[in-house]
Amino acid sequence: MTENILVTGGAGFIGSRLTTALLRQDPSRKIWIFDNLHPQVHGDAPATPEFGAGVTFIKGDVTDACALADCVSACNPNIVYHLAAETGTGQSYDEPTRYCAVNVIGTTNLIEALRTQHNVKKVVLAGSRAVYGEGGYADAKGLEFVGLPRQPEAMIAGDFTVPVPANAELPAHPIPSHAGLPPAPASVYASTKLMQEYLLCQAGEGAPWDAVILRFQNVYGPGQSLRNPYTGVLSIFSRQILSGKELAIYEDGEIARDFAYVDDIVSALVAAGKTDIKHGTILDIGSGKPVSILEVSKMLMRALGKEDDKFKITGDFRIGDIRYACADITAARQTMDWSPQISVEEGIRRLADWAKIECSNVQD
Ligand SMILES: NC(=O)c1ccc[n+]([C@@H]2O[C@H](COP(=O)([O-])OP(=O)(O)OC[C@H]3O[C@@H](n4cnc5c(N)ncnc54)[C@H](O)[C@@H]3O)[C@@H](O)[C@H]2O)c1
Repeated sequence: MTENILVTGGAGFIGSRLTTALLRQDPSRKIWIFDNLHPQVHGDAPATPEFGAGVTFIKGDVTDACALADCVSACNPNIVYHLAAETGTGQSYDEPTRYCAVNVIGTTNLIEALRTQHNVKKVVLAGSRAVYGEGGYADAKGLEFVGLPRQPEAMIAGDFTVPVPANAELPAHPIPSHAGLPPAPASVYASTKLMQEYLLCQAGEGAPWDAVILRFQNVYGPGQSLRNPYTGVLSIFSRQILSGKELAIYEDGEIARDFAYVDDIVSALVAAGKTDIKHGTILDIGSGKPVSILEVSKMLMRALGKEDDKFKITGDFRIGDIRYACADITAARQTMDWSPQISVEEGIRRLADWAKIECSNVQD
């Protein structure tokens, strides 16, 4: 039987590669993309994306309940991938209403649209590790907890360490985050991503479909918007390096991130769609290996054919930025028989090769 799949946000960085991968895996699939071609991501006059046979593209906004419901009923999906979202952490502080409208109300609109659909078996959410806030730490006795929010006063004084609860036995160290840790969103964006999880898990109780939440780390790779100044640090840095700018590296350069290559994210999404997974399961998806922003910046400069010394460690910081992020991918490995395949060195080489060509096409 032909499988019908709906991908909200399917014209975006991850969604477009997901669509290609789903069709490559099974060319008989019918895929519907619902995406508003957000100008911040796609530019002011984006062309309608061409995906070829098997893909129907609908330009629409998830905040438009009727348009979304029409698309859902035309698609009659078996699987839904919900990727459409506002994605900038910093920007979310300035535009909390828009972030809630798109990420939260957009999700409830999807849930209501699915009520009339009887063939939906699974809804996979592109969740975010942002829901962990400062993320997991363990104290000297192995007690695990989530790091406390960092205070601006301490960071102005150059102290970027993550406070720990008073009962923690020092020294404490960061650990890869896993779904057993309590959520602690530290930005409006993170709160909306957590709300998406709650809503899908609650609405899926008693519904014919199961919700699966994949919490992504920092996704990077060819195809990430070079226009969007709010997301994708490696894409932003690629553009700055290629235009000869000195990179401004925040804090002391030792912010750590788990950079997940886009194809590894896509293979996790594909696996989540086809594996039998219990409703409400949350899986952390990343490379499982932290790398400092300073280290990755130097790798990127070299991959772009530049000297790796054109940067300045500014000591500046951004509210909502967290110090250490890394995924514990054990559950994803066990549940979906999935593992990341692309090392950060290889991924950065691929990103750099693409960015060298693409940057010349993007207007400032
Ligand atoms: N890229 C990452 O590092 C990362 C990390 C964690 C989670 N995620 C999540 O993955 C998903 C996809 O992210 P991405 O990196 O591909 O981002 P992206 O911005 O490239 O893609 C998002 C797509 O959603 C569309 N969109 C935005 N607002 C919409 C609306 N109101 N209605 C319909 N479509 C809309 C955009 O046009 C875009 O095509 C998001 O839900 C994001 O929160 C991404």
